[in-house]
Amino acid sequence: MENLNKVQWVYSSQNNQELAERYDQWAKDYDADLDQDFGWIAPQRVVDFFSKHVPKDARILDAGAGTGLAGEILSSLGYGEIVAMDLSQGMLDEAEKKGVYQEFHRMVMGDTLDFPSDSFGAVITVGVLTVGHAPASSLDELVRVTRPGGHIAFSLRPDVYENDGFKEKQTELESAGKWKVVEVSEPFQALPVGEPDVFHQVWVYRVS
Ligand SMILES: C[S@@+](CC[C@H](N)C(=O)[O-])C[C@H]1O[C@@H](n2cnc3c(N)ncnc32)[C@H](O)[C@@H]1O
Repeated sequence: MENLNKVQWVYSSQNNQELAERYDQWAKDYDADLDQDFGWIAPQRVVDFFSKHVPKDARILDAGAGTGLAGEILSSLGYGEIVAMDLSQGMLDEAEKKGVYQEFHRMVMGDTLDFPSDSFGAVITVGVLTVGHAPASSLDELVRVTRPGGHIAFSLRPDVYENDGFKEKQTELESAGKWKVVEVSEPFQALPVGEPDVFHQVWVYRVS
């Protein structure tokens, strides 16, 4: 499999089981492939926004943590309590090797999450709310597990926002008084080396 097709390969999964299997298979090479062949900068960009709003002692959920790229950056900034959650056990096993997470949970965004309400001071999710991955409905559960006053920061492609139910879901949560938008970034090239036409935005919300 050409590395340049790996992103398309996971995107074309037919269901969550196949998606998890493909990420399990990719896990060991994911960091090197994304760095060398794609120039994946979204974890750094989302953390740049997240860290403006979230105190260092917050208990953080990294939802769709993958191999832990965001956790590694958060840890280097002094965040000390980070929980990894992902669909793929293989990705979680790689995240564990980074030595920056306190807990690891295999869960599926889009289903009910096995965390009590108000469990976290903040949630970060990078490259996960997208086509064939976690649906817009995942946001309901991310809001539920975040305590009032806590922040949720995520990356999202503008076309996915418009076309895949995110615009409606984000607006619905705001209208229902569940959260308020705090900051939205300009669109940026998230994979400037391998996929220069793919843009993401960072969204930051405060949970009410
Ligand atoms: C593109 S990777 C991003 C990983 C990491 N956040 C990063 O920035 O490198 C997408 C990750 O989301 C996970 N994932 C996809 N769909 C998911 C779902 N419905 N629930 C939980 N994790 C999911 C995949 O297993 C994979 O680890």
